[in-house]
Amino acid sequence: MVKICCVGAGYVGGPTMAVIALKCPNIQVAVVDISVARINAWNSDTLPIYEPGLDDVVKKCRGKNLSFSTDVEKHVSEADIVFVSVNTPTKTQGLGAGKAADLTYWESAARMIADVAKSNKIVVEKSTVPVKTAEAIEKILTHNSKGINFQILSNPEFLAEGTAISDLFNPDRVLIGGRETPEGKKAIETLRDVYAHWVPVDRIICTNLWSAELSKLAANAFLAQRISSVNSMSALCEATGADVSQVSHAVGKDMRIGPKFLNASVGFGGSCFQKDILNLVYICECNGLPEVANYWKQVIKVNDYQKTRFVNRIVSSMFNTVSGKKIAILGFAFKKDTGDTRETPAIDVCKGLIGDKAKLSIYDPQVRQDQIQRDLSMEKFDWDHPVHLQPMSPTSITDVSVVSDAYTATKDAHGLCILTEWDEFQKLDFQKIFDNMQKPAFVFDGRHVVDVEKLRKIGFIVYSIGKPLDDWLKDMPAVV
Ligand code: NAI
Repeated sequence: MVKICCVGAGYVGGPTMAVIALKCPNIQVAVVDISVARINAWNSDTLPIYEPGLDDVVKKCRGKNLSFSTDVEKHVSEADIVFVSVNTPTKTQGLGAGKAADLTYWESAARMIADVAKSNKIVVEKSTVPVKTAEAIEKILTHNSKGINFQILSNPEFLAEGTAISDLFNPDRVLIGGRETPEGKKAIETLRDVYAHWVPVDRIICTNLWSAELSKLAANAFLAQRISSVNSMSALCEATGADVSQVSHAVGKDMRIGPKFLNASVGFGGSCFQKDILNLVYICECNGLPEVANYWKQVIKVNDYQKTRFVNRIVSSMFNTVSGKKIAILGFAFKKDTGDTRETPAIDVCKGLIGDKAKLSIYDPQVRQDQIQRDLSMEKFDWDHPVHLQPMSPTSITDVSVVSDAYTATKDAHGLCILTEWDEFQKLDFQKIFDNMQKPAFVFDGRHVVDVEKLRKIGFIVYSIGKPLDDWLKDMPAVV
């Protein structure tokens, strides 16, 4: 029986391995991690991540051909195929700080694999890594190989959080990059056979290592670029009286452009987009391509601009100060159907409002208070380290309370901001919310959740990104 081990039981390692176990009953899958708390949670009834459909898949396979363990070395040494899906944070110090990927966790995983291996192995890069990482990993493994043959493959993951299970069941494509040697080709075939249990072979793309690594960075950069493109249009729409939803609908009808990823919002978040673009920028700079680097850097700049613009709209509409005012924040996760808050725009918006001395009352259906406190206390990029290695005991932010429903969050508030597009926010009783808020009552919709006209009829002053402005906001500067 083929044995697979995955190092790293996170948002990628957990769901991908659970689906492999479900679709390949003849393969034994072990997911290992250095975080005891994470592994305990994977072995409990409350999984460490919220993802629709995941519970069901895990319940079907756990205890059969799927296991979660902290005994990293044992499972790695027994495996034929070792996936590595560990953190790849952005470096905060030294060469490439603020841009380059920090491969500390990757390198330590590779050294551990070389140490404990007693038989030939295929080592699969599942984490998103800079181009040519496989070469570095290959060197670490072969220089410590004790005669064991290691084949390195790049198999980047394209799942989207919130739809991870359906993405994994029915991927647009699976990408496998490997060496073009006979051994490399054989390793590619072995991994292709795993996916071929449920993915049509014409959707399994095989390339060389560098193409696979770069394709992942390029795909994320293209997706983020679409969001920044439509967000840049949202600013122009507000200035001219156009409606960004109408513009993106009209633009997206063009078959060459397509409708997806054209929703204007307060900005993109998630663990990957910014990190992967910074990484791409760094690689371009290292290869003497400053024009290409600057082109991609602009995607991040527009995203930052969009968050700043949103905060400035709030402050300027509320008489240029939010000091001492209660502001309700509805939604903290970076998108709906996930509890993930990594790089969520809510962090920058909340920090901006706290900087102007607002009092925040935050509600998100899936994000817990300790996570929000931690996010608002952490330095940029610190989130992308294993939980037990993140800076300890963040000081509690006193002007923030986290509550368990939207009505408590908005009671006596001067304004409310919608930062995640949770379905339940569409069904709120806005008349009741209006009755319980201070007047004038403001709504700042960063996700196109509310019916603007309906809320204006109730009496709210409404700002919805990229939509024609409320009279109240017309003469106020968008960026102060
Ligand atoms: P994560 O932070 O949820 O999980 C990483 C796990 O690796 C942690 O549980 C950590 O404790 C563990 N770990 C770190 N070093 C280890 C070691 N030496 N031995 C054993 N375990 C170790 O991260 P996530 O989101 O799963 O991402 C992993 C990689 O996949 C990253 O490179 C990310 O960029 C990439 N990726 C993430 C996607 C996403 O939607 N989150 C999608 C596609 C790729």
